[in-house]
Amino acid sequence: MTNSNPVARVVVTGGAGFIGTHTVALLLAQGARVLVIDDLRHACGAEIPPEADRVEAELSTPAALQALARFQPTAVLHLAAQGGVSRSLRDPAGDALNNVVATLALLRAVVDAGRPRFVFASSGGAIYGRARRLPTRETSPARPLAPYGAAKLAGEGYLGMFQRTFKLSYAALRYGNVYGPHQDGTGEAGMVAISCRRLLRGEPARVTGNGAQTRDFVYVGDVARANVLALGATTQGPINIGTGIPTSIITVARTLTALAGLPADPEFVPPRPGEVPASYLDPARARARLGWTPQVPLEEGLKLTLESFRRAA
Ligand SMILES: NC(=O)c1ccc[n+]([C@@H]2O[C@H](COP(=O)([O-])OP(=O)(O)OC[C@H]3O[C@@H](n4cnc5c(N)ncnc54)[C@H](O)[C@@H]3O)[C@@H](O)[C@H]2O)c1
Repeated sequence: MTNSNPVARVVVTGGAGFIGTHTVALLLAQGARVLVIDDLRHACGAEIPPEADRVEAELSTPAALQALARFQPTAVLHLAAQGGVSRSLRDPAGDALNNVVATLALLRAVVDAGRPRFVFASSGGAIYGRARRLPTRETSPARPLAPYGAAKLAGEGYLGMFQRTFKLSYAALRYGNVYGPHQDGTGEAGMVAISCRRLLRGEPARVTGNGAQTRDFVYVGDVARANVLALGATTQGPINIGTGIPTSIITVARTLTALAGLPADPEFVPPRPGEVPASYLDPARARARLGWTPQVPLEEGLKLTLESFRRAA
């Protein structure tokens, strides 16, 4: 689609979710018109601002796809997904229906809508598996260990095909471990949100294994900024969105415990099967192609997150 500003009219699938609500707020603040498509199955509870248009529908339904066509987007940010790695292991077919088949229905509709710029939420944490090289670059082989990561890789595969065959312009953002206000802390994933909830109830933070495993924790406000930059860019293909800094789980648990003012030590529980010992991302491509660097240091991000959970409690 030819438009001087690709971020003028943006469809955000999953715009009622954790990363979605932060990104929608940023897009609106920058003067974009936004259409949120979300069936609210996992809405994070933060308000979708009234300036945003919204359609409450499952992604692959005619209601959702026709709304997208009517909106005439200049760009689409595709966040809607089943986000649970453990759940994908229990129900890989259900995971693929949402994360692969619904994505394909969306891609077909996007081509019919004139090929607006497309940004896909992929996963740096799930797509690389046991990476041989750390920090991991986009050129490292993708060897996912769970259906969730395999579905993200399939999504990227289809995007490459849509680019070659239909000239779709796309970026696949491979996020690290995103954390921040409004993340769901009631499920199996989202260690920071789960710890915040536990600490505010006076319970110790929980650490799997010995807690020495490292992850790339990236603040949601930084991720929202990366999304907006990628929507407005012309760069193609995968881009890591992480800090490049390995942080151990035990460090996060102890920092949150200290911020909460609790004397208790974290509680150790058995490791999850298949948990990788280290995962962190090289963000050099994001810096070079999007001009993106993370701005919120871990301790500040954890403080902002804990405060927001405290206000909501
Ligand atoms: N949170 C992370 O650490 C992380 C890391 C890597 C990648 N991602 C990816 O980023 C995206 C957003 O993640 P999040 O943490 O904000 O998840 P989230 O669960 O908070 O938000 C997803 C939103 O999509 C909606 N949704 C899901 N399936 C839908 C469907 N078929 N039709 C319509 N709406 C649907 C849900 O209701 C929810 O509001 C996902 O694609 C996720 O896989 C997240």
